[in-house]
Amino acid sequence: MEIQNLCKSYQVSGRKLDVLNQLDLNIDDHGITVILGRSGCGKTTLLRLIAGLEHADSGEIGDVGKTGIIFQEPRLMPWLNVTDNILFGLPKSERKQKTEHAKLKHLIELTGLSGFEKAFPSQLSGGMQQRAALARALAYEPEYLLMDEPFAALDHFTRKQMQEELLKIHSEEKKGILFVTHSIDEAMTIGKKIVILEHGVCKKEYSLEHVSYPRDLLDGTLVELKKEITQQIGMD
Ligand SMILES: Nc1ncnc2c1ncn2[C@@H]1O[C@H](COP(=O)(O)OP(=O)(O)O)[C@@H](O)[C@H]1O
Ligand SMILES: [Mg+2]
Repeated sequence: MEIQNLCKSYQVSGRKLDVLNQLDLNIDDHGITVILGRSGCGKTTLLRLIAGLEHADSGEIGDVGKTGIIFQEPRLMPWLNVTDNILFGLPKSERKQKTEHAKLKHLIELTGLSGFEKAFPSQLSGGMQQRAALARALAYEPEYLLMDEPFAALDHFTRKQMQEELLKIHSEEKKGILFVTHSIDEAMTIGKKIVILEHGVCKKEYSLEHVSYPRDLLDGTLVELKKEITQQIGMD
């Protein structure tokens, strides 16, 4: 999916704030593309435009099809159990028929929620809530998953585990994933391509296509890459 010349600005206190400035980006249909950048550089804005939650001022976003979006907070409905939360985004007609559906069972197994089908969000850990949010996004059968710092609020160990699980899910479902983060380690753990976003443009792109999963970040090549990326993000 190709994005070309994307521009978006906001009016803030009577002044024009340019957030995306003629941004070009190619998103892999089946791989994991990571957008890496400092807070405020326009990552969420980009995702919202791709998801169609907002309109661009100008530019082109290729044919995205259906998108499933996952935020930093799980945004589950507290009064619905796991099953009903997963089915929540579907049209009513599909919801009823899917309750017994093999696909639902598959999603629950895929996201490691077996045995918790009837649990309410308050009874789940943060990681499990985020897995339920992931299952809900997948139930919608999107072409692309858009993930906005989905693991940023989790503790270190849960975050590592979620990254591994996302890779496992990705190897089974093969969706295009656009994953936003401000963690260089996270980007290098999961990204097939890492794009550095700065001042509303893609400043630099790195391909990790030939680095297999699971990745050892202490491997010499990746240590070098981390130095390079750290420098790129540090520079103005
Ligand atoms: N709805 C909005 N109205 C005005 N300014 C906004 C709005 N949404 C985002 N911004 C501004 O746009 C810039 C980029 O925001 P955002 O895309 O959320 O960045 P990031 O996700 O990279 O932290 C920030 O300066 C933010 O304050
Ligand atoms: Mg953001």
